[in-house]
Amino acid sequence: MKTIIEPFRIKSVEQITFTTREQRKQILKEAFYNPFKIKAEDIIIDLLTDSGTSAMSSKQWGRLMEGDESYAGAKSFYRFESAVKDLTGYENIIPTHQGRAAESILFKIFRDKGKITINNTHFDTTRANVTVNHLTAVDLPAHNNSELRFKGNMDCDSLVEKIKEVGSENVALIMITITNNAVGGLPVSMENIKQASSIAKKNNIPFFLDACRFAENAFFIKKYEKGFSERTVKSISQEMFSYADGCTMSAKKDALVNMGGFLALNDSNLAEEARNQLIITEGFPTYGGLNGRDLEAIAQGLNEIVDEDYLTYRIRSIEYVGERMLKIGIPIIQPIGGHAIFIDAQKLLSQIPRDQFPGQSLVCSFFLEGGIRSCEIGSVMFGKYNDELQEFIPAPYEYVRMAIPRRVYTQSHMDYVIEVSEEVYRKSKELGGYKIVKEPKFLRHFTAHFAPI
Ligand code: F0G
Repeated sequence: MKTIIEPFRIKSVEQITFTTREQRKQILKEAFYNPFKIKAEDIIIDLLTDSGTSAMSSKQWGRLMEGDESYAGAKSFYRFESAVKDLTGYENIIPTHQGRAAESILFKIFRDKGKITINNTHFDTTRANVTVNHLTAVDLPAHNNSELRFKGNMDCDSLVEKIKEVGSENVALIMITITNNAVGGLPVSMENIKQASSIAKKNNIPFFLDACRFAENAFFIKKYEKGFSERTVKSISQEMFSYADGCTMSAKKDALVNMGGFLALNDSNLAEEARNQLIITEGFPTYGGLNGRDLEAIAQGLNEIVDEDYLTYRIRSIEYVGERMLKIGIPIIQPIGGHAIFIDAQKLLSQIPRDQFPGQSLVCSFFLEGGIRSCEIGSVMFGKYNDELQEFIPAPYEYVRMAIPRRVYTQSHMDYVIEVSEEVYRKSKELGGYKIVKEPKFLRHFTAHFAPI
């Protein structure tokens, strides 16, 4: 088979500034060893996130000029609404400035003190929005006992048990995140979505999708789930959406734009409540938190993302990096997910205790050795200190995520990432831990200060 190549050519480029190891040592120190605090111009390859970092197509840039910026009833809204309805089938489409704004509105309208929300795994902003609305987030991932290819699944046996345990009236919402970002960007099977949906229906509990990487999820279903190989990614996506009552979407991922999102749902009474919230926090219902031109770019992006040449290249390009890391001996989550490589920092840096944040140490090392920015998804993000017990409670895992922006980097950029990984691997046993010297109350990973121990 011939090499799978990027199904696009490059029309506009952005300069990368190179730094030396000595310069990066100083940059890291000045950023308090937190890569979120490093200036983007000091990064050589930025794999912090795949969110809002996509390269837009010439068609998307063209549509920006068609943006109708009318306050109410803009043409751009109706084009956006029709693209989202065509894909999801939902009745009410509510634009927001990004995914978490849709989450904030959703959990506000389901706010009911003491109730729980169940997710295959809540992403950090989802969990934060659940918590500030006095709900309790329960994760039921199935990665340990599900079939190899769909380790993003919800554990449906535990779902039934949990509903029985707390009573269905105490479950505000069931949600499935596609793909399951927090456990490796791994996909959820159609069978699993269907099963969770039927459990939710039986118990009269609303069922939603967190759909920000829906196209990558649908592509995995096409590739690996029985009965889907002849179906288009678009029709698979439509089927996934059909099992839920609505979805939240960060358009910054699988709508190929730099900013945007939406909440979509069937229930018109709930939609009215959601629109009332939208007006308070985001804007009028036909623009939400967005410009008319942004709505145009999302509508176009949703068309482009289901292109199967694009998805073939996308999924293969992630696999390519993962396969080479495995060859070097770097422990990564397998199978390889849809948008990122997840390195098991606990395994690689086994000399660093978990309360000294092995993931943070690895993230710093990737920057120091090669100017690569990655993201800790471990005890910095999800760990806690229990003051009463005076005990550190680690996150379930210590991962470092290298998320690949869509349509941005070429194969030689990725070859560079692999070379730097080899260097980091060689030095891994010499790396030490970190301590937190300053942290905020919520989502500490964004702004915390660290110091080497
Ligand atoms: N849900 C999931 C599964 C996400 O991965 C994200 C964002 C959101 C919701 C929130 O969307 O950023 O538009 O407000 N994830 C980014 C990431 C930040 O790096 O994985 P947002």
